[in-house]
Amino acid sequence: MTDCQGDVEAENSPMELYRKLAELGDKVRTLKTAKAEKAEVDAAVQLLLKLKIDYKQKTGQDYKAGCPPSENGPVADDGNDEEDDVNPWSVTTSNAKGVDYDKLIVRFGSSKVDQQLVDRIEKVSGQKPHHFIRRGIFFSHRDMHTVLDAYEKKKSFFLYTGRGPSSQAMHVGHLVPFIFTKWLQDVFDVPLVVQLTDDEKYLWKDLTLEQCHQFAVENAKDIIACGFDINKTFIFSDLEYMGASPEFYRNVVKVQKHVTFNQVKGIFGFTDSDCIGKISFPATQAAPSFSNSFPHIFGDKKDIQCLIPCAIDQDPYFRMTRDVAPRIGYLKPALLHSTFFPALQGAQTKMSASDPNSSIFLTDTAKQIKNKINKYAFSGGKDTVEEHRQYGGNVDVDVSFMYLSFFLEDDEQLEKIRQDYTSGALLTGELKKILIDTLQPLIVKHQERRKQITDETVKRFMTPRPLNFKL
Ligand code: TRP
Repeated sequence: MTDCQGDVEAENSPMELYRKLAELGDKVRTLKTAKAEKAEVDAAVQLLLKLKIDYKQKTGQDYKAGCPPSENGPVADDGNDEEDDVNPWSVTTSNAKGVDYDKLIVRFGSSKVDQQLVDRIEKVSGQKPHHFIRRGIFFSHRDMHTVLDAYEKKKSFFLYTGRGPSSQAMHVGHLVPFIFTKWLQDVFDVPLVVQLTDDEKYLWKDLTLEQCHQFAVENAKDIIACGFDINKTFIFSDLEYMGASPEFYRNVVKVQKHVTFNQVKGIFGFTDSDCIGKISFPATQAAPSFSNSFPHIFGDKKDIQCLIPCAIDQDPYFRMTRDVAPRIGYLKPALLHSTFFPALQGAQTKMSASDPNSSIFLTDTAKQIKNKINKYAFSGGKDTVEEHRQYGGNVDVDVSFMYLSFFLEDDEQLEKIRQDYTSGALLTGELKKILIDTLQPLIVKHQERRKQITDETVKRFMTPRPLNFKL
């Protein structure tokens, strides 16, 4: 692609500097991971520092990845230069405990899911909150209190979540938002729309349209296997539904008209050489937040509140959506954000389907699960049994313990494991065995449910039709 001429930003305007900094930050990270020559890394770092100084002089703010200079105003400096990198395409941190989620809340300007909110969810839903909420896995939110206020006054909402179908292979981490969404659907008795962004994956990956669409249909089976109620759930592929629904496309175009190229550059780090499909894609992910995008479900009602459960890396899309919504006469969607599901090798990065050894796939056999955990799961234990017994292990960096906090439902059992591992009474091999015994049946059950799902069932979920709910 040739560079486009339409950039109205003056050279070295704050936004232009911000963009250069974002690009350079990426470059430094790539060089570091690729273990490039020290001189080359140093040169890039020097340039980065110089640009940071220029940026501070120009804007009076410290440069923060993910926070463009405009609109959002100055962001407090947390004195952490080795910043966590969190965006829709990559998640990395230098900290073995994983991303610092409290800092992320400050940087993204969202709110913490605190005990008061957990208690309110319990009170309003009348159910014990899901362990994902109790344990801080869904740790951040936007406007949850507004959703609950309205719900208490008998004004309901709808759920929206999604998945980018980039391969056949889904891993256990991919299930986290869906398991939680299913719980929300059950306890609040609300309709759900699930967007499969086969268009997005075509634009970003080296795949054909047919492949992406095929992955969407295959992934739909794994999603359905989480137990969604067919009478309350509409799953759609962008490649199919966009062309079939004028109402949906109208909302896409409305969003497109109200977001500038500079804004998406700032939010997503697009550059002049990204294809225009990527540049306009965020409008497609925004549109399902508005109830009138689904006339077969909501008629022409445009004021039904949307709640989006998603991993925190998707927040940039919805910051943009929330910024646009009132300007086009719609409600801002509310959000519940989850932490990432760590890679087997450690919480510095999230599980990735493109690295088979970093993930436990939904198609893995019991034996593969056992081998991967024993071989790759990063351990917070000590090097020898003697040392471990004496000093104990560190659950904060131990991946097996982290996975148990996602999938072991019994709070007391989990707490006992934490204490025993920390004291040294429980060894790494024993901890890994508990994880293996927890995950194997969970995945076998998923595989059994998935096997029952026919193409016919998928088609029914993916057909635009009225859903059964009261608002
Ligand atoms: N972009 C997301 C991905 O690549 C897919 C997605 C679309 C999504 N809409 C969403 C995820 C809403 C969460 C909530 O996985």
